[in-house]
Amino acid sequence: MTHILLRHRDIPGIHKLDVYRAHGGYQALQKALSEHTPDEVIQIVRDSSLRGRGGAGFPTGVKWSFIPKAPGDKYVIINTDESETGTFKDRELCEYNPHQVIEGALIAAYAIGAKTVYNYFRGEYMDAAHAFEEALQEAYAAGLIGQNILGSGFSVDFYCHYGAGAYICGEETALIKSLEGELGQPWSKPPFPAIEGLYGKPTVVNNTETLANVPPIIINGADWYKSMGTPQSPGPKIVCMSGHVEKPGNYEVEMGVTYRQLIEMAGGMRGGKKFKALLPSGGSGPVITEKALDAPLTYEGLTPFGSVMGSASVIVMDETVDMVWAAQKMTHFFKHESCGKCTPCREGTFWMEKVLHRIYEGHGSQKDVDTLQSVAQQIKGKTLCALGEFAVSPVLSTLAHFPQEYRAKLAK
Ligand SMILES: Cc1cc2nc3c(=O)[nH]c(=O)nc-3n(C[C@H](O)[C@H](O)[C@H](O)COP(=O)(O)O)c2cc1C
Ligand code: SF4
Repeated sequence: MTHILLRHRDIPGIHKLDVYRAHGGYQALQKALSEHTPDEVIQIVRDSSLRGRGGAGFPTGVKWSFIPKAPGDKYVIINTDESETGTFKDRELCEYNPHQVIEGALIAAYAIGAKTVYNYFRGEYMDAAHAFEEALQEAYAAGLIGQNILGSGFSVDFYCHYGAGAYICGEETALIKSLEGELGQPWSKPPFPAIEGLYGKPTVVNNTETLANVPPIIINGADWYKSMGTPQSPGPKIVCMSGHVEKPGNYEVEMGVTYRQLIEMAGGMRGGKKFKALLPSGGSGPVITEKALDAPLTYEGLTPFGSVMGSASVIVMDETVDMVWAAQKMTHFFKHESCGKCTPCREGTFWMEKVLHRIYEGHGSQKDVDTLQSVAQQIKGKTLCALGEFAVSPVLSTLAHFPQEYRAKLAK
């Protein structure tokens, strides 16, 4: 397919404003400002059925419609924290096609009446952040950001903010706290950011890729968008392929392709080895096996297999991977990234890692496996944010699919 999001792959130099504009750039903003009221923009995005690409798949237009209409301070935040294991799509967008993200965020700001936009970057993304800042400066100089944009009377300021490399700061409420200069820890919702977000004001937090979808929707319309993908999961999607495939990298596809096709697209299994399992959403989504490979890449496609598409960071594992080792690695990540605010996640991830380590080293007993299962069940559904839920995925899914690998490691 022709790229809709990764357009720089078809149009070299599109990170520069003149090239972006020569290929239709900022016409969606112009169209939104001159032909549509903010409510109409929200309706178009609602009609397109665009769903959030940050993982949860919440309908974007619906989220925008929750923002109160009364005048006052409101904010749009682009979530470029992108700290999920195996996820690297937002980095590519910000580095090579930044104006499309900026344009999408400006349209979002117009739609909800925000006067300020922030892009919250993962701290390590310095190259992407520099490229994005350069694009911002060009857009400011051209009058596309700032006062009275394109003579419309609409004004907005745009800032970048850099996190310090904490996974939890991708969670929207922790992100907001971090942006305010406080400790990046989630709060219990409600209040939702749409009502009380940044500095206590109505705030939309959207993933970078979500916002990059907005300009083509405004230009081509909701029906065009819905002609791609499936009725419940329309549009294009960037899939981050990594692990044991021949050609890891980002692939832009129409929603609905199967996981088997994705592996083929990525050059097949590395060195011709046999497929064993894959993580469809980095470490946070339950592992799937061969029998789920023909499921479609959609928000619903993996439900029958007990897993999720999430942000579509697909980590492929071949026959050589020890699944207890894999579970231990991922549990270490979640333990390290737990913000510590709630007990089941803080203590549970600590204990799960310890027990997994004991089993992996060959000192575990059946009682340890039972304890692991029990600790995971005590975290599930009992934490303040979804990190707790994510942390149990690698443990419970490897225990379910590969119990023999655990058994084989138990002390004789
Ligand atoms: C632990 C954790 C980490 C998250 N990290 C990210 C992230 O890096 N980027 C992102 O867009 N959303 C992330 N999210 C989801 C956000 O909370 C939020 O749902 C998302 O930014 C909303 O944007 P969307 O509706 O466009 O998907 C994370 C959620 C959790 C619980
Ligand atoms: S679930 Fe974990 S990361 Fe989320 S608030 Fe609780 S301790 Fe923090």
